[in-house]
Amino acid sequence: MITVRVPAKVNVQLGVGGLRPDGFHDLANVFFAVALGDEVTASAAGPGEGVTLTCSGPDAAVVPLDGSNLAARAARLLAARHGLAEPDVRLHIDKAIPVAGGMAGGSADGAAALVACDALWQLDTPTATLLELAAELGSDVPFALLGGVALGRGRGEILDPLPVTGTFHWVFAVADGGLSTPAVFRECDRLREEAGTGSGDTDVPTPDADAGLLAALADGDAVALAGALANDLQSAALSLRPSLAATLRAGTEAGALGALVSGSGPTCAFLAKDAEAAAAVAEALRASGTCRTAHATHGPVPGATVLP
Ligand code: C5P
Repeated sequence: MITVRVPAKVNVQLGVGGLRPDGFHDLANVFFAVALGDEVTASAAGPGEGVTLTCSGPDAAVVPLDGSNLAARAARLLAARHGLAEPDVRLHIDKAIPVAGGMAGGSADGAAALVACDALWQLDTPTATLLELAAELGSDVPFALLGGVALGRGRGEILDPLPVTGTFHWVFAVADGGLSTPAVFRECDRLREEAGTGSGDTDVPTPDADAGLLAALADGDAVALAGALANDLQSAALSLRPSLAATLRAGTEAGALGALVSGSGPTCAFLAKDAEAAAAVAEALRASGTCRTAHATHGPVPGATVLP
């Protein structure tokens, strides 16, 4: 039995380029891994049992447990890459990452399942191959393997680790219900069309990482990082879920240094001065009635890791 711990992500910068002919958008995506995470356990199953999936945690009821789950797809993809037949494996997800929340929870489980099955089946797959399989599973899966802080280019799967100093303190306000990532990207395109700027990859300049933001990370400067937080999907997420404006305001009024929608939302992320300030912001958000719950956490933390 192998258990893998895997982090959620927040995008401290999410620069979104135009819509490409393949249906994806080129990104300048600064991923940041936080301690809020899932645990995926892989254990041997009897012959013919196939891939089975179970889930625990407060949101277990809304996690799809069929073959579409990225953890199940990861197990099958890894087996196929090694020329193995349909694998027999039991996967259990202990879920803490908000579901469809813009924190790449499903992607994290896919990355964790790759690492857990690789260890269970003693395959010793090279990291480069795991990253390649992860990119096949989804744009955010490779980063969940890597963790830390990294710049994602292309659709987010081409990763370069970034230097970072110290620990940053975060609060995540979890909304009721999720948002569909493709729907948020579509809304971003629609808003661009409405504004007259166009939404294609020949209309929108290719985004680039912000030098001030990279310096803030390297310097461990939370105030500077808070000032540089930027998410090009935020207006689309707010357009689809206008109530998020009140959540962002509540956290800012409670003393957060900066606030933004996490990825495609609807989870909102708040950067705090220190652990104590983060606890106070989380408490104020829970009392505000503008979110379902709020978690104080920190990062960066490593990517998918086998637990002893
Ligand atoms: O790669 P992943 O399966 O996570 O992407 C889900 C959807 O999000 C894509 O089908 C696409 O609609 C949108 N997406 C995008 N540009 C990206 C990443 C995702 O438009 N860079």
